[in-house]
Amino acid sequence: MYRIAVIPGDGVGPEVTREALKVLQAAAKRFEIEYETPEYDYGAKAYLRTGEPLPEGAIEELRTFDAMLLGAIGHPSVKPGILERGIILRLRFALDQYINLRPVKLFPGVDCPLKDKGPQDVDFVVVRENTEGFYVGIGGFLKKGTPDEVAIQTGINTRKGVEQCIRWSFAYTRKRNKKKKLTLVAKTNVLTYTSDLWMRTFEEVAEDFPDIETDYAHVDATCMWMVKNPESFDVIVTPNLFGDIITDLGAIIQGGMGIAAGANINPEGVSMFEPIGGSAPKYAGKNVINPLAAICSIGMMLEFLGEGDAAQAVEDAVASVTSTKVKNLSAGKMGYSTSEVGDLVAQALSTGGGG
Ligand code: IPM
Ligand code: MN
Repeated sequence: MYRIAVIPGDGVGPEVTREALKVLQAAAKRFEIEYETPEYDYGAKAYLRTGEPLPEGAIEELRTFDAMLLGAIGHPSVKPGILERGIILRLRFALDQYINLRPVKLFPGVDCPLKDKGPQDVDFVVVRENTEGFYVGIGGFLKKGTPDEVAIQTGINTRKGVEQCIRWSFAYTRKRNKKKKLTLVAKTNVLTYTSDLWMRTFEEVAEDFPDIETDYAHVDATCMWMVKNPESFDVIVTPNLFGDIITDLGAIIQGGMGIAAGANINPEGVSMFEPIGGSAPKYAGKNVINPLAAICSIGMMLEFLGEGDAAQAVEDAVASVTSTKVKNLSAGKMGYSTSEVGDLVAQALSTGGGG
């Protein structure tokens, strides 16, 4: 019996979460998986009511689950940063989800904005370090609001944090068993301290993985390669902020935010699965947002729970829906509503195929 904490959140979060749970139900039925999904009402509404982004004891309670599913967090009624820092980043940090795994995979049938590129070419994974870098929130102002204002924001890179991320990435590249190539993405030509730590650690850990080919690319050049030669990548490992930036580019080359899934992983604890797109308040409640990213996150969750067959079946069901029905993945342009897309995937899953 798996216990999965569900945080639908703000904006379109509840709609995409509903479809993701619909698909989980279909997968559970076919593969005889037992689970429960208690919901937690965190987000803008609860914050405005209580003044706290997360209630007291939330972290301790969430720690007891097998996995978490997050819809989306963020709403125009709350100043930017409060809910993002107070909920998403708090959960990632407090639960030590030090890996952010973001597959960049073009499903069959999906329109790719890259000329002459297809599913063969766009199939790599970004491992974003998830608990350090510029996300730690260290900094401050001096003489704020005056002409002499100074703002400082410090990024933290620890040997331990960098090494655990790189080591996990090598092991993941081996397990993925595709091109068996791991590319470090950083900025060694300018960030001569932090990128140097990443590079030295990368080279040292590589010695323990002689079967994995290694490569390095600067983050700016990576943006170019992702557009020009996405097929050159297998697995990328990169610091937090670089990973944040390049995975939005990754999302668009796989067809858009509508299909971009992610996993915040604590290999020794509870992991949180989330579509990487935001809460898109302007589409909320309209039944037009694409739930495939949330559905693919369920696939990733099943994989990490050790339900590999069910995970594969979810991926196959999504592929059958993109290749035969939903070509355009943008909100309002799918040709189907949010709930219809969920139905299509659940149906494809139930009627066999895949697995
Ligand atoms: C993401 C988002 C978050 C991040 C924000 C909402 C805090 O952009 O998951 O990529 O920057 O990590
Ligand atoms: Mn982002």
